[in-house]
Amino acid sequence: MKEAIVDPDLTVSIRDTAIPVPEPGQLLIRVVVSGTNPKDWKMPRIFTKQSSNPGDDIAGYVEAVGDGVVGFRKGDRVAAFHQMMTPGGSYAEYAIAWEDTTFHISEKTGFEEAATLPLAAMTAALGMYQILNLPLPWNPTSEPLPLVIYGGATAVGAFALKFAKLSNIHPLIVVAGKGSAFVETLIDRTKGDTIIDYREGNEAVQTKIKAAAGGKPIHHAYDAVSEKGSYMNLSGSLTAPGKITVVLPPKEEDQIAEGITVERTYVGSVHNPPAAGKTIGDREFGAAFFSLMGRGLAQGWFTGHPYEVRPGGLGGLQGALQDLEAGKASAVKYVVRIADTAGVP
Ligand SMILES: NC(=O)c1ccc[n+]([C@@H]2O[C@H](COP(=O)([O-])OP(=O)(O)OC[C@H]3O[C@@H](n4cnc5c(N)ncnc54)[C@H](OP(=O)(O)O)[C@@H]3O)[C@@H](O)[C@H]2O)c1
Repeated sequence: MKEAIVDPDLTVSIRDTAIPVPEPGQLLIRVVVSGTNPKDWKMPRIFTKQSSNPGDDIAGYVEAVGDGVVGFRKGDRVAAFHQMMTPGGSYAEYAIAWEDTTFHISEKTGFEEAATLPLAAMTAALGMYQILNLPLPWNPTSEPLPLVIYGGATAVGAFALKFAKLSNIHPLIVVAGKGSAFVETLIDRTKGDTIIDYREGNEAVQTKIKAAAGGKPIHHAYDAVSEKGSYMNLSGSLTAPGKITVVLPPKEEDQIAEGITVERTYVGSVHNPPAAGKTIGDREFGAAFFSLMGRGLAQGWFTGHPYEVRPGGLGGLQGALQDLEAGKASAVKYVVRIADTAGVP
């Protein structure tokens, strides 16, 4: 099969490799569309400095199932989250995912839309419900519950906004810039939701966040940016006891205000066994929420992120990853269609 390997300098080469074999509990998926994520350039360039196929967002058809898989069979239309930093990534004709992180998609859900979801939407769900402990979508709050979403046009932040609306969480105080017009389509001004432009500078952002809550305390924030001063702006705007979830590790030297805790959301936790002393954990949360997302797409109450199909299939990956690194993506996820790759039938 054709598989794309990303080098530490982000050069992408397309190689002929063996089709992987699913282990017990895993599925082999024929990839129709792969999504891309910022980590796909960060891993080779900054963290592992190794060459690999780092793609994690899969949309396609089940080709084969490993022993013990009960919920899927050959030919099913699915989307899936590949286990990060393991072989069998989505930048290939065939990829591997665990049954727990795979969900059915209906005939009317396009593979492009489905491929925008797995990693980013699960990061949003984990942060909202497992870390911030906000009311679950099937038990929405009936009280005002101010929430700051920092980076509302990021894929993670936009999915957090969609979950917040399902949970009836308002007012939503959303920090965004170029992507504000897109964020506007996700908020409800009649419920007090508002957008603050980060390009006005950190001081203005802090003042405006506080003002947006109309004098009410804000105790929760989802920081989908977690750099460029974002969580310090939140630290300066929340009222204790407050909680901020971040998506990147905070800098040790940053002094967070007293009574405000910062906890990292990590999407890879859906592959972890339960914590000591617990019977179930993020793996079961992940399985439940992936299934929920598939239902939401089919029934129309959940949607993918806006996407741009990069030309050339796997051959278009290098440009996509370079554009992600350059910060060019605004309110968009780059996706590639595997069939557009030279040499793929
Ligand atoms: N911990 C985890 O498990 C995990 C999982 C997924 C992602 N992440 C990390 O989370 C971050 C977001 O990922 P993503 O895929 O959602 O990114 P993305 O969609 O590619 O993010 C692009 C967006 O970032 C926004 N942005 C840039 N600087 C900003 C700022 N100072 N304030 C507000 N918005 C800003 C831009 O907003 P405008 O267009 O409005 O200017 C742009 O739309 C990345 O750092 C990624 O590595 C971590």
